[in-house]
Amino acid sequence: MANTDTRIDEIVDGIYRISTWQEPYGITFNQFLIADERPALIHTGMHHLYDAVNGAIAQVLDPAKLSCILLLHWEGDENGGMDRFMRTAPQSELIGSLLSIQLNASGFGFTERVRGFRDGEVLDLGRHKLRFLETPHVHHWDSMMVIDETTHSLFPSDLFIQPADQPPVVTEDLSRPMLDLYRAAGIFAHEFPIRHVVDRLEQSELSWIHPMHGGSFRREEFSRYARALRENEFAYHGMLLGREIAKAAPM
Ligand SMILES: [Fe+2]
Ligand SMILES: [Fe+2]
Repeated sequence: MANTDTRIDEIVDGIYRISTWQEPYGITFNQFLIADERPALIHTGMHHLYDAVNGAIAQVLDPAKLSCILLLHWEGDENGGMDRFMRTAPQSELIGSLLSIQLNASGFGFTERVRGFRDGEVLDLGRHKLRFLETPHVHHWDSMMVIDETTHSLFPSDLFIQPADQPPVVTEDLSRPMLDLYRAAGIFAHEFPIRHVVDRLEQSELSWIHPMHGGSFRREEFSRYARALRENEFAYHGMLLGREIAKAAPM
């Protein structure tokens, strides 16, 4: 356990969940540390979480040894701390989908120590191997996910979100609260890209799912969330972070 409200727990074989509860949002913000020959951090957290996340990493390994800093789409909680971690770990590379790196990293002035990946490419960390899935419009058009082929762990970013301060591993069925949160937050423009990815994931060999908000869960729980996403509407319908947005007048 770490200081303040940030905790770190090993979930499976060198994969650690670093989690900070953020009351105003009603969710946890999780980063994942993979301790390996080339240590990787998946999501940095927001800029202001740097000290807390860095302190949690330091309980496992020297943060200056981080080799890969992964962002799964360009957004404050995904990569808001990237400049600070890249300074802390001078050998590290910023890694994202080809689109994130080509468009966003370069557009924001990050042109060195950056690497974009295409669907199907693999990043070798040592014992763990990360395979990239480009998942456009699962929240953002530059979105991607990664699967660690060693532990069969999926890092789906904002997919399979669960509200409240969840423990490191959840077994409870939280698929209803997930749908309610998606409807209130309005993070998906349409169901189609999500269902397409869910179909793809269902055909992948997965043992663990590590969402960015909520707890990690095992394969057995996956089908409940997949079914909920297939059978219900949850895309944007006039609400953004719980706030109603003016709708266009009916024609
Ligand atoms: Fe996001
Ligand atoms: Fe997120």
